[in-house]
Amino acid sequence: MKYPESMYYNNPNHTKNPSLLISLLKSVCNVKGDIVEIGVYKAEKYMLFLDIAKQQGKIAHAIDSFRGFPSISKFDTFYKKGDLGVNGAGWLRKKTANKKNARIHEGFVPEILEAIEINTISFIHIDVDLYKPTKQSIKWAWPLLTSGGIMVCHDYLPNDERNCSRAIDEFINETKIKYSGLSKTWIWWIKK
Ligand SMILES: C[S@@+](CC[C@H](N)C(=O)[O-])C[C@H]1O[C@@H](n2cnc3c(N)ncnc32)[C@H](O)[C@@H]1O
Repeated sequence: MKYPESMYYNNPNHTKNPSLLISLLKSVCNVKGDIVEIGVYKAEKYMLFLDIAKQQGKIAHAIDSFRGFPSISKFDTFYKKGDLGVNGAGWLRKKTANKKNARIHEGFVPEILEAIEINTISFIHIDVDLYKPTKQSIKWAWPLLTSGGIMVCHDYLPNDERNCSRAIDEFINETKIKYSGLSKTWIWWIKK
């Protein structure tokens, strides 16, 4: 899948460098709750999260269809159904077989979220690109986030009105909950 000129990977503010995410994740070491990534793809970030979660004595959940994008809404501008599929989660289950704190959940948001047993979250990275699953993931995650916990969303372009940015702006406008930080297309909230 090729991203268009104006967006994300060609945007000077976009980065895949995980150092910001890692420092946010490390900052929740004393906050109770699991670590979660929704939108895992090839698990580049998830494998890092898993190691830090282990150091913090926490479970790390990987949630993705692993079959790429579901149907696309009218607010999603250039994605296609099935883009970013990685032939299921079998390879990630094998790769994490010896990691006791790994939990791999294969299925589409929102249905998969209903099936997962998580009581509290201390850190969540939401990176599903599209409008609807971003909206649904935020709605699911926010009440589970512990005080002091961090919710981070990737690929946010303020007031873009498309894709995940639309869902994130709706969360901001509907809840009036002020975000804690904005950097390089990541936006995050530290829950009060
Ligand atoms: C940009 S990739 C994630 C990249 C990953 N976080 C990383 O940093 O390497 C987006 C992922 O979202 C997943 N995704 C999008 N919509 C989804 C949905 N409704 N249910 C489950 N997964 C979804 C896709 O399958 C894809 O793997």
